[in-house]
Amino acid sequence: MYKAKAYSAASAASPLASGTVARRDPTEHDVQIEILFCGICHSDLHQVRNEWKSVMPTVYPCVPGHEIVGRVTRVGSAVTKYKRGDLAAVGCLVDSDGVCPECQAGLEQFCPNLTLTYNSPDKHLGGVTYGGYSDSIVVDERFVLKVPSSLDLAGAAPLLCAGITTYSPMRHWGVTKGKKVGVVGLGGLGHMGVKFAHALGAHVVVFTTSLGKKEDARRLGADEVVVSRNADEMRKHAGSFDFILDAVSADHDIDAYIQLLRRDGNITLVGAPEKPLAVPVFGLIFKRRSFSGSPIGGILETQEMLNFCSEHNIIADVEVIPIQKVNEAYERLLKANVKYRFSIDMASLKAE
Ligand SMILES: NC(=O)c1ccc[n+]([C@@H]2O[C@H](COP(=O)([O-])OP(=O)(O)OC[C@H]3O[C@@H](n4cnc5c(N)ncnc54)[C@H](OP(=O)(O)O)[C@@H]3O)[C@@H](O)[C@H]2O)c1
Ligand SMILES: [Zn+2]
Ligand SMILES: [Zn+2]
Repeated sequence: MYKAKAYSAASAASPLASGTVARRDPTEHDVQIEILFCGICHSDLHQVRNEWKSVMPTVYPCVPGHEIVGRVTRVGSAVTKYKRGDLAAVGCLVDSDGVCPECQAGLEQFCPNLTLTYNSPDKHLGGVTYGGYSDSIVVDERFVLKVPSSLDLAGAAPLLCAGITTYSPMRHWGVTKGKKVGVVGLGGLGHMGVKFAHALGAHVVVFTTSLGKKEDARRLGADEVVVSRNADEMRKHAGSFDFILDAVSADHDIDAYIQLLRRDGNITLVGAPEKPLAVPVFGLIFKRRSFSGSPIGGILETQEMLNFCSEHNIIADVEVIPIQKVNEAYERLLKANVKYRFSIDMASLKAE
């Protein structure tokens, strides 16, 4: 065991503060990574503030962070895919049972015994796992990803959650050329969704509540931008979408988007607001529309997504910040005021 520097929250009401956490020494299958950048996901904020208490109550202290890129510093004797000095990444998953049908299918995100990167029971040390707002992490090599060398590291970090969470449902629901695709909420997830839908050849429409994001939406790859508070603008798109990805972090009118789907269209929620959304049934019944959700992605698909990003020159648009600004960043997230992902430069943690 060793001590790693980390920023953690002591309770739902506490700001994140500097401290240390225990990490295991690498076992034979483990990779130890010096963390260089870690993205800030809105899920970090939900979890730190215990907003998902009915499903995943937070255990304190909580060290969030699941958009991790860094450099390998040590490997266990049985590790074959990584060596000291390699670039490496870790996303939302650090373990699973490996034997259930989901794992056998390469869909570890559905494993009943998965271990999330933070706030999950830690099989090695007891307590819970600690995430990437830290100077290092130790992870089984099966859950470590290769970072294509062409990608800027600060901008690559958010691919590990915002990237895979938007890429996976778009692949699952067949987003491709000729499809009309909506992306709701131009935040960290939403802006990645726009980039992927555009790269996959779809006609992309962004729905935003922020007037000031219209130009950016086009630059990121949107063909059209709709200010969702404008009912006239919304009505023009009624019954026309094949697929809509909803990446909104707070309560909103979901039926307004269901009405925009064509027959057999699908809306997938990746946004995970604290409170339930109201779904009037007739919006779904009349056009045989479907309403679904999607969690992150498996390891195989995450690597596929990273390689896709390398081929298509895709990274997140990031504001790089020192860890000391993390609490301020959370307040800005709540105001939908980030362009479009915070990426923490973990060198700043050395000063603590
Ligand atoms: N399913 C999964 O596996 C998964 C993975 C990661 C994250 N998530 C969840 O996905 C959600 C988004 O995460 P994120 O990191 O992308 O968050 P984010 O960067 O804060 O973006 C959320 C966006 O939602 C819009 N929004 C915020 N409040 C709103 C409101 N009251 N009404 C309408 N729109 C509003 C804003 O876009 P505009 O300014 O354009 O309106 C905002 O930029 C979070 O709930 C997060 O926990 C889920
Ligand atoms: Zn996330
Ligand atoms: Zn499994």
